[in-house]
Amino acid sequence: MNLLERRLADEIRASGPIGVDRFMGAALEHYYRSRDPLGAGGDFTTAPEISQVFGEIIGLWGADQWQRLGGPLPLRLVELGPGRGTLMADLLRALRVVPPLRQAVEVHFVETSPTLRERQAETLRRLHPDVAPRWHDALAQVPQGPMLLIANELFDALPIRQWLREHGRWRERLVGLDGSGAFAFETGQIGTPPVDPPLTASDGALFETCEPGLAIAGEIGRRLAAAPGAALLIDYGHGQTAAGETLQALKAHAYAPVLADAGEADLTAHVDFEALGNALAAAGANVAPLALQGQFLIENGANLRLEALLRGKDEAAGLRLKTGVRRLLDPMEMGRLFKVLAATSPERSPP
Ligand SMILES: C[S@@+](CC[C@H](N)C(=O)[O-])C[C@H]1O[C@@H](n2cnc3c(N)ncnc32)[C@H](O)[C@@H]1O
Repeated sequence: MNLLERRLADEIRASGPIGVDRFMGAALEHYYRSRDPLGAGGDFTTAPEISQVFGEIIGLWGADQWQRLGGPLPLRLVELGPGRGTLMADLLRALRVVPPLRQAVEVHFVETSPTLRERQAETLRRLHPDVAPRWHDALAQVPQGPMLLIANELFDALPIRQWLREHGRWRERLVGLDGSGAFAFETGQIGTPPVDPPLTASDGALFETCEPGLAIAGEIGRRLAAAPGAALLIDYGHGQTAAGETLQALKAHAYAPVLADAGEADLTAHVDFEALGNALAAAGANVAPLALQGQFLIENGANLRLEALLRGKDEAAGLRLKTGVRRLLDPMEMGRLFKVLAATSPERSPP
């Protein structure tokens, strides 16, 4: 057992089994604090690390939204869970097409990992030395006002709770210790999931809920209701609230057991976009119909941008560019599994 596992095991021995959210939250906090997990040498990769076109198209989408909002300045460009800062760097490059916005933009990163904050600082210093980002532990700390908010693959990395349907009732699934002292799932008390499960869920079904995600969506919605702004949440998940177990662990780009080696593997779960959309709308935002990532990027010009980038490139560089963009767009790769949820201030029609 590693140090974190010993701490969690002591907690279970002292106070009884813990929620899956407690296990996942402690594991992810240690995981992100202690490494940069992205890229070929890490555990997983993400769209901005695959192709610059991803961040650039989001930048153009943001510039368009800003103009539709009437061009409010100063504008806060807020990114939740910015990883290596690559998406922000690509997005800022695209904003050069709108100089007044690019010059006046304020960058705010919401990031809990000190290791990744360093990476983000380094990326912006190298590529956009004129920008002085500010870091926050939570969205609530970002100053209020007009904003464009982006989050790519943050919501799948937030702790979930799991619920099991037994004899027509929901019971929370917990993590305890088995006879050999290893972490094992067990079933807890009857309870009420914080999101209504589908009525079709029958005995044996497993249902997942993500309260931190709902809280962040509520905070985004309140901000959009209070000042002009737009938000783009991109992640992998399902469009409608559904039962099913999606919690997974990835280590060195391969699946791993979810309760093994706590804090040393990436833990994620599918995002429930219906629940996120409802939380945004309940807080006062205008929510657009969910789009597939491939569709969103194509409609916003990904193929045109690719063509422009290919001009003057040799064959090998051209192939790399095309392979990266295809991975983002192809429905068999990231194009369909990943979804895009956009929301704006209520005075605007949905984007
Ligand atoms: C899967 S990575 C995605 C990184 C980046 N958005 C990308 O697309 O490459 C998740 C990011 O969210 C950060 N993170 C995890 N939990 C967080 C939280 N509760 N609040 C803010 N950031 C968090 C991680 O440190 C990391 O930067």
